[in-house]
Amino acid sequence: MLFQKKKDIIGIDIGSSSVKLVHLKEAKGGYLLAGLGMATLPTEAIVDNAIMDSGSIVEIVKGLVESQRLKTKNVATSISGHSVIIRKIQLPIMTEEEMEASIQWEAEQYIPFEISEVNLDFQILGPDPHDASMMNVILVAAKKEFVNDYVALFRECGLNPLVMDIDCFAVENVFEVNYGTNEDEIVALIDMGASSINVNVLRGGMSVFTRDIQVGGSTYNEEIQKRLGLNNEDAEIALLGGEIADVAPQAIADIIEDATESLTQEVQRSIDFFSATSSDEKVQKVYITGGVSKVPAVKKSLEHRLGVEVFALDPWRQIAVNEKDFDPEYLQAMGPIYTVAAGLAMRRMGDK
Ligand SMILES: Nc1ncnc2c1ncn2[C@@H]1O[C@H](COP(=O)(O)OP(=O)(O)OP(=O)(O)O)[C@@H](O)[C@H]1O
Ligand SMILES: [Mg+2]
Repeated sequence: MLFQKKKDIIGIDIGSSSVKLVHLKEAKGGYLLAGLGMATLPTEAIVDNAIMDSGSIVEIVKGLVESQRLKTKNVATSISGHSVIIRKIQLPIMTEEEMEASIQWEAEQYIPFEISEVNLDFQILGPDPHDASMMNVILVAAKKEFVNDYVALFRECGLNPLVMDIDCFAVENVFEVNYGTNEDEIVALIDMGASSINVNVLRGGMSVFTRDIQVGGSTYNEEIQKRLGLNNEDAEIALLGGEIADVAPQAIADIIEDATESLTQEVQRSIDFFSATSSDEKVQKVYITGGVSKVPAVKKSLEHRLGVEVFALDPWRQIAVNEKDFDPEYLQAMGPIYTVAAGLAMRRMGDK
């Protein structure tokens, strides 16, 4: 309906280390920040992106939502990991409707799961530049069982999960809203979280390559625990620059440096793989986000390895913020952590 008011929706990102919530209102053709919050999860609540301890997560999400005093129960959330497959494929040119009708059949050869066990979605990117009779399509398949666990969790919180997105597409959304699209540019968006690194390469604003790497910031914590004999809490304090008795700051710095190299090496492998499989196209710019992007050595190490400039993705760049309600310093410091949730909050009904 032309004049239907778009539904108010909140973005909730259930990460493996914490839950983040962002609420945006539409204002003057853009967005106004209306609410945000985060809450830490117990270490084993999410393992390999799967919900292990739904009881604790429900309590935490409920608490977070209540603290915001929201009117809407509508939620946009996202998933990622092994149970989600994203493929760029080529098909003969067809309409959206024809695609809708044949997706089950087309998907079969690309998806390593039983088609009856997955939810399928697609986005037509446009004609193939090398063959006008073909079009490029992004195919997404997510295991039903996995999706249903997330849907059930939100229902248990008394919420209405309306949009189920993919982490890396939420980041892409944030990038598009804040930086626009440049037809000639190849950029990589890299979300570096606690237990995974999601890589998404865009050409002319369209996703052409994605990769989920199953390592992340918990490597820092685990290495500090292992090498210095600390417990989880103390290791996290030390990682974030706090003082721990009998631990030399240099020892922490050395561990951070080693772990950074092992994480950025994984990113380099993915980017090299992209180049090798796409007629040697090169990524020209990299934008990083997620908690790990806050480690200063990460940006330097990536620049060194990839030979291109690396920028911190600012999710609030084009978002109106009332400084009476939100501390600009907090927003700047926590932007990387809230990026996925911000991208989800930008979703509206009818969006794919
Ligand atoms: N200032 C900081 N310096 C170093 N590391 C940090 C900092 N802040 C957060 N981290 C690390 O970032 C990670 C959390 O980032 P983020 O919130 O993006 O992850 P997540 O969304 O919970 O995880 P995932 O997306 O992998 O499921 C943790 O490993 C944490 O130790
Ligand atoms: Mg995350």
